[in-house]
Amino acid sequence: MKRLKAFRNFDQILTLEGSYKKDGRKVQPEDMSILHKASVVCSENEVLWVGLEKDFPQEYEKTAEHSYFKGKALTPEIVDSHTHLIFGGNRADEYSMRLNGADYQEIAKAGGGILNTMKGTQALSSEELFNISVDRINRIHSYGVGTIEIKSGYGLEYSKEMELTKVIDKLKKHFYPKIQIKNTYMAAHAVPKDYTSSKEFMSSVVIPLLEELSDKNIIDAVDIFHEQNYFDSKDTKLLFEKAKALGIDRKSHADEFFDNKGAILACKYNALSTDHLLRTEQDGIEALAQSSTVATLLPGTGFFLGKPQANARRFLDQGVKVAIASDYNPGSCHCDNVILVASLAAPAYKMNMAELWSSITLNSAHALGLKNQGAIVQGLKPRFTVFDVSNINSITYNWGRQLSSGTITTEV
Ligand code: NIG
Ligand code: FE
Repeated sequence: MKRLKAFRNFDQILTLEGSYKKDGRKVQPEDMSILHKASVVCSENEVLWVGLEKDFPQEYEKTAEHSYFKGKALTPEIVDSHTHLIFGGNRADEYSMRLNGADYQEIAKAGGGILNTMKGTQALSSEELFNISVDRINRIHSYGVGTIEIKSGYGLEYSKEMELTKVIDKLKKHFYPKIQIKNTYMAAHAVPKDYTSSKEFMSSVVIPLLEELSDKNIIDAVDIFHEQNYFDSKDTKLLFEKAKALGIDRKSHADEFFDNKGAILACKYNALSTDHLLRTEQDGIEALAQSSTVATLLPGTGFFLGKPQANARRFLDQGVKVAIASDYNPGSCHCDNVILVASLAAPAYKMNMAELWSSITLNSAHALGLKNQGAIVQGLKPRFTVFDVSNINSITYNWGRQLSSGTITTEV
């Protein structure tokens, strides 16, 4: 078999070269850098050439294996950089309670919410959790998503959180390279009832388990629900200090219900991303604009909880690197399709097309520390999504329709 692969004659290739050169900030429609009637050549590790079919280099005619894609479009691989997809049970009844007038935080205080899913998750064996997750990941992949982040956080006791991170590790090995998984440790998701304070839970579970997992070398990042009634800035600092000392990347859920200055704290610790940000004020936006921390907006959560949305335009105009992710979870956003979420959000956020596409490819890859993918540019990793359309604009125009015919990677 030939080592080089040529994917030829797409009606359009969305390269996002312009966006890549601008590091995903302040991008304009022309930064989509779309090529018409175009092809790409890849080795196992990188894109070797991308350009118009009429300019296809002679040298690859004999050395590459060729496949043809007339009538289709190619984009950088879609990345969902924020999911909580490993959980048991469901919260359909809480959803109904919310529509009938109850509030998310009230339901949580009454023992529902994350602690409800904790029970559903603890009831499942490791094998059951693996099998459920395989089905969920395959469904997400069918939309055209090739890289998925998965957070632990519904085990909420030492051994169950450990088990969840091990199941995520097994999923990672099972799916690679077709699907790339990132393993985020989020035991700091909620404080179980048997602990008197978040401090006690941090010192007896979250931190000691982080140390143990770090020795096993299976987690990619830590995350924390930095929010009133969950974990405060002291807890977040403690987790971030420890992770930093251990050489593990940092992420946070911040400024969702209140502006707790979580975005600013995440930037101070060079977090890969800080997510939600519905309430982030001007000082937080400035900190993000000056940092490499990605602002991940989760519009599905606002839609599903009936809460206001982040003011995306303020972030984008000030040069913040903005990603969009699904936040797929059983409570606050039971939607696993990031392309649908971004398609719905873009008009509400007043995003241009380059901002929309960068938010689910380039910037969402950066939110996972994957600086070498997210655009179809020479030297970057060969990870792409194919769509059964001849016009890139048709993909999000047909919101809610499954138009992908798969992802492509030549990685081994
Ligand atoms: O990102 N904010 C914390 N975690 C999830 C909600 C989880 C749940 O309600 O089960 C979120 O919205
Ligand atoms: Fe989340």
